[in-house]
Amino acid sequence: MNDRTTVQIHDHRTPEERDREFLPGMGKPWLLPFYDVFSRLSGARVLHDRAAALADIAPGETVLDVGCGTANLSLAVLRAQPAARVTGLDPDAAALRIAARKAARRRVPLTLAQGFADRLPTGDGSLDHIVSSLALHHVPDEGRILFGREAFRALRPGGRVTIVDFGSSGGAHGSDGHGHRGAARGHSAVAANPHTARNLEGGLVRLLTDAGFADAREVAHLEHRYGPITFVQATRP
Ligand SMILES: C[S@@+](CC[C@H](N)C(=O)[O-])C[C@H]1O[C@@H](n2cnc3c(N)ncnc32)[C@H](O)[C@@H]1O
Repeated sequence: MNDRTTVQIHDHRTPEERDREFLPGMGKPWLLPFYDVFSRLSGARVLHDRAAALADIAPGETVLDVGCGTANLSLAVLRAQPAARVTGLDPDAAALRIAARKAARRRVPLTLAQGFADRLPTGDGSLDHIVSSLALHHVPDEGRILFGREAFRALRPGGRVTIVDFGSSGGAHGSDGHGHRGAARGHSAVAANPHTARNLEGGLVRLLTDAGFADAREVAHLEHRYGPITFVQATRP
């Protein structure tokens, strides 16, 4: 249980996972100090707030933010629902230390776990929500498949997963008014990048459907100057 002044970081990694490589937030570890400035200037807060609103979290509900980085989505969840019980998961210890400082400064309760998306730090059926922002394109193919299965395992029946990331539904959809002149450029950049290209044409919906979420669907879409952004949701049957 959190108190309001201490932010804990737990090491959830196995000895083998301690040597495992991962793709950090800005691609290179030394760029991390600039991550939050870049995130702010690029307007990512809109995405975090939108994802938190779509998740529609009730007081007391448990939330796991997968690939939390410096906790931007975790903090958006806590702004939207201060009585949520939020844990952020990320392999990057330096990002988690920044996350801990931000949460402590804001005096919000946040638990942090160092670990990977393919092994969630929680028991079967124990979570009300899983959320994730701009993180799944950092996870390797095998890890993404395992993440889907882990989300299915860790959510309670009726629990919900809400993901925002670069990507598209593949079906007809309308932009919701956030169009940008750079959008076409963004589309080709996302398609050209093998990490983000996996999320195009319904990639995230397929990932969750294959894991057993029958109702996985794109619930919102917007055009960011860096590319198409998809919001995907599914409920654990
Ligand atoms: C672009 S950042 C997004 C951070 C945060 N969610 C946000 O919206 O600001 C991507 C994050 O994914 C994390 N990541 C990379 N590989 C991962 C993995 N296998 N499992 C979980 N997170 C991972 C990185 O460490 C990084 O913090």
